Amino acid sequence: MIPEVAFIGRSNIGKSSLINGLVNRNGLVKTSSKPGHTRMMNFFKMGDKLSLVDMPGYGFKSRDEWGGMILSYLQNRKNLRRIYILVDPSHGLKESDTQIMKLLDNSGLSYQVVLTKMDRLSKTKYSAAKAEIEAELVKDAICCFPLVLGVSSKTKDGLDELRAAIVKAGQL
Ligand code: GTP
Ligand code: MG
Repeated sequence: MIPEVAFIGRSNIGKSSLINGLVNRNGLVKTSSKPGHTRMMNFFKMGDKLSLVDMPGYGFKSRDEWGGMILSYLQNRKNLRRIYILVDPSHGLKESDTQIMKLLDNSGLSYQVVLTKMDRLSKTKYSAAKAEIEAELVKDAICCFPLVLGVSSKTKDGLDELRAAIVKAGQL
């Protein structure tokens, strides 16, 4: 099995849109303005050496349902190299995000935070939101990769940097 990285985050945060941007194929992954669009795990190849895994959002499915299906995948998947947690900088870290991070910390699973929809904030507001999130992560998140990245699937800002990080994570 080739290495893979998974994308998780609250419903409507932009997981499916981001995967479209990363594989450079608009419309390959179905996106929607209605939360709860992605219902199953879906696998997409980025080049021929790495798979990207799109996940249903949390905060839409009940926590038990999300927890049962996704957590067992995350905990048991041998070729899973890193989990990307998507967070909207306009909203900051929500309790559902920190709960998931705790579960990942307890299982020793490596994750990295990616801020989505950067195009919606001014540079100043984005920087302030990022700094606040980073400060929270330093306090609590044990298995969190220290670098927080930012992307916009709309303008494609930050996609090259994220792609480079994913390729590196895939080689670990
Ligand atoms: P679920 O599958 O329901 O969990 O949602 P998701 O996380 O896959 O979100 P999805 O990619 O379907 O996007 C949700 C909405 O946000 C859609 O209306 C997208 O067009 C919008 N969106 C996604 N990324 C961006 C972005 O970078 N900028 C802006 N402005 N809107 C975005
Ligand atoms: Mg989706």
